[in-house]
Amino acid sequence: SRIAVFASGTGSNFAALAKAQEEGRLGGGRIELLVSDRPEAPVAKRAEEAGIPSLLLRPKEFASRKEYEEQIVEELRRREIGLIVLAGYMRLITPVLLEPYAGRIVNIHPSLLPAFAGKDAIGQALEYGVKLTGVTVHFVDGGMDTGPVIAQRAVAVEDGDTADTLAQRIHEVEYELYPEVVAAFAAGRVTLEGRVATIRA
Ligand code: GRF
Repeated sequence: SRIAVFASGTGSNFAALAKAQEEGRLGGGRIELLVSDRPEAPVAKRAEEAGIPSLLLRPKEFASRKEYEEQIVEELRRREIGLIVLAGYMRLITPVLLEPYAGRIVNIHPSLLPAFAGKDAIGQALEYGVKLTGVTVHFVDGGMDTGPVIAQRAVAVEDGDTADTLAQRIHEVEYELYPEVVAAFAAGRVTLEGRVATIRA
């Protein structure tokens, strides 16, 4: 399937997905487009280096959120995108995008959802004092990190962890897990019944 990755920031997950594709680990998935709401974000440069086209739009330059997303949908249709992969895309998705792409938008979040949804999940986990946190890949719905869980992997919190050291270990797990799930999705191996998603062998 033809994939668009949405990202707002550093883009290390974008880079991990692009690398997986290069190494033949994305199955039938092909990253056709980067969509970013922050044209100045480092992820834009990463796309350029990887030779992946990008759509860089500033939401503020649109009359409304609706018009911003309509422009994105138009571009996705033009490129026949079948799967949207959010990788640090820092906005909620509205029905303008959700409806045409129902069941075809996934996100990665640095905690074991439903714990620590929203911003700074790693800081939230440290502050709470949990001993186990991790990574979740989930379907996207209209809420903040609330859609059905597709895959999770645990990461232990170690004594003396700081936000940086814990983030580093969480990111390593993200770079492995996200390409695996995207490849499974591209191969049609992810199914959803009610809230329960399954990756078939
Ligand atoms: C990742 O930790 C991801 O889980 C979260 O945002 C972060 C994006 O980092 N949704 P990067 O831009 O991929 O480096």
